Amino acid sequence: MTRQRILTGDTPTGNLHIGHWVGSVKRRVELQSQHDCFFLIANLHAYTTRAGDPEAVHQDCIEVARDALAMGVDPSKAAIFVQSEVPALAELTYLFAMLLPFNRVMRNPTLKDELQVKGLADTYSFGFPLYTVGQTADILAFRAHSVPVGEDQVPHLELTREVARRFNKMYCGVADKAEDEDHEQLGGVFPVPVADVGTVGRLVGTDGQNKMSKSLGNAIHVIDTPKQVKKKIGKIYTGQDSRQPTDPGIIDPEKNPLFQYLDVFVEDEATKADIRDRYQRGDNIGDGEVKMLVADAINTLLDPMRARRTAYEDDAVVLKVLREGTARAIEATEETLAMAKQAAGTGFFPRTISI
Ligand code: TRP
Repeated sequence: MTRQRILTGDTPTGNLHIGHWVGSVKRRVELQSQHDCFFLIANLHAYTTRAGDPEAVHQDCIEVARDALAMGVDPSKAAIFVQSEVPALAELTYLFAMLLPFNRVMRNPTLKDELQVKGLADTYSFGFPLYTVGQTADILAFRAHSVPVGEDQVPHLELTREVARRFNKMYCGVADKAEDEDHEQLGGVFPVPVADVGTVGRLVGTDGQNKMSKSLGNAIHVIDTPKQVKKKIGKIYTGQDSRQPTDPGIIDPEKNPLFQYLDVFVEDEATKADIRDRYQRGDNIGDGEVKMLVADAINTLLDPMRARRTAYEDDAVVLKVLREGTARAIEATEETLAMAKQAAGTGFFPRTISI
């Protein structure tokens, strides 16, 4: 397998939880050994809705980085960096915005969804839709081949692919009919990147209703103590009343968090099958037994993360990691930016940037 360049990122939301682990961080920890990985903390992106909350966004960047490090992202392998400190990203956003029809930007189902869910109707900032163009720059600035993301990000990847194709055709002489895979070889600055969509996207929260999310208060965090984990699992409502031996609903993982957690966090297949079987038959097994098993499994997962986290308790240590990661991101993106400016006619003078 050839080494690829991989870029992915998150909007900083504060402390990470086991939903983040299952949905994205676990995969990143696997990828970092085989590929050149860049993990972006999209703080400018957070300003789409939190521009009035600068201190909180600033601190959230540090918390996200600390928890990612606790979960096993290794700064000697992957670069973790802050979006706002990498100037090429903003510069490419400006240039790419010129290549995209306004109506094309607005015709993005994820963007439309967000505007609706957040109730922004016609009060959203100019920067809100612009973030999608910013995301194309985040990816292309690294000339990334692959972008591990959740399903909801696929429309942004499609936009990114369009920008890459258009740029390469407009400024690099890549032929109109060229295949996506051939763009770089034909002289295009940008590879046309692919979305690497994860399979386990959605971990249900301890409320058994919604996706696990910090803001809904239904999350289990890396910073939770073993006791807190036991307590949160203990409180899960499993729909006891509706439990019938013939009712398959109760073991539908989407409806019963306990069984999704059993699937995801308990490793021993025989144990899982046995519990499922006995529970379904209404055999002599209570929620308590399953809950204990699940809480233990989650604590087994979190234990090494808790241990690693102690090395990063000091903000200064996290900031040092971010600084080194950001320096590597600047180096990679300045190279791309110079190539892009040269191709697009906006380059005049070479420059170096250091932090
Ligand atoms: N849109 C992503 C999110 O909200 C964050 C993000 C910004 C991103 N830039 C990116 C993800 C580039 C992947 C690649 O989660």
